[in-house]
Amino acid sequence: MKLKSWIPIAVVVSASALALSGCSSGGSTGGATTASRACVILPDSASSPRWENGDRPALTKAFTDAGFQADVQNAQGDTNKYATIADQELTKGCGVMILVDYNGAAVAVTQKAQKQGIPVIAYDRPITTGSKDSPSMLADYYVSFDNEKVGELEGQSVVDGLKTAGKDAATATVVYMGGDPADGNAKLFHDGAAKVMTAAGIKPAAEPTGVWDGDKTATNFEQALTSLGGKVDAVWVANDTNAAGVITVLDKNGLKVPVSGQDASTAGLQNVLLGKQTATVYKPFKLEADAASKLAIQLLKGQKPSVSTSLYGKPFIATTPILVTPDKVQSVVDAGDAKASDICTGAVAAACTQYGVK
Ligand code: GAL
Repeated sequence: MKLKSWIPIAVVVSASALALSGCSSGGSTGGATTASRACVILPDSASSPRWENGDRPALTKAFTDAGFQADVQNAQGDTNKYATIADQELTKGCGVMILVDYNGAAVAVTQKAQKQGIPVIAYDRPITTGSKDSPSMLADYYVSFDNEKVGELEGQSVVDGLKTAGKDAATATVVYMGGDPADGNAKLFHDGAAKVMTAAGIKPAAEPTGVWDGDKTATNFEQALTSLGGKVDAVWVANDTNAAGVITVLDKNGLKVPVSGQDASTAGLQNVLLGKQTATVYKPFKLEADAASKLAIQLLKGQKPSVSTSLYGKPFIATTPILVTPDKVQSVVDAGDAKASDICTGAVAAACTQYGVK
């Protein structure tokens, strides 16, 4: 992700977006007027616990604290449901839409909202048209983490893991398990990780098609491991849910090798403490939700957001991801995005004592 100027929490606008601020469809909805409703669609629950456990409460709180109604729905991994939810929300009226794309379903919804003069914020995942290599942002704003940086941190955790294991990166057998290519972030995660791993001399020994599903990732990885004669030195994995699938297969084969991930989910943090996952990349969802809700509230109030950095040709707000190794797990608990009571169960309890997680 190449930005004109990178600021940890950078805020960006283009003139074209300003004309959209404050527009909304007609009609009112009970207490909340259309103009005061923020309509949100989350993608699913299976790909990562972050959407329901992290983003939903953070977005809801941000809007209600500011006196606005947040209509937050989850498409549950179904593009038809995504479209139905959008129609229902738009019928009730939206002053702004915040969409996490799922398999491209957000494109048609964005076009429909913009036809009604409703500004759209692409949340976490880009909503683009054009080719994968040179996409253009359809949404009026994009709020996310620096997803190439997420990939770079994941790649670095693989390189560091090989070094700790005394393995030469240039000759190591490394498998790449990416995210679903229908998610614009997946390419950014991959490109960031590949940049770091390639620089260290790593070449992928196998790279099955990416998917956001732990069980499918386990199956794909098991097939790759078989094709490699059961030999693997490290696995680059794009998120914690998929990493758990890979670790299940490694456990079954009595293997313990560097594995990457992201989302700082409870399962991910447990695997990091157990030494089964080298690290996870923590993306404080509150940062992302606050940035998106602040922008949305300015639009709901008819204000003109001022922004200074762009990506894919549109206003971009980015937040900084954080690498979490075993000694950093407590920082996620301190931030309120994980509970020691959820993490420190069974065999993990001893590791929590060792790393001071409480
Ligand atoms: C990505 C998101 C990640 C990851 C994945 C699976 O777009 O940025 O947090 O978890 O989706 O949902």
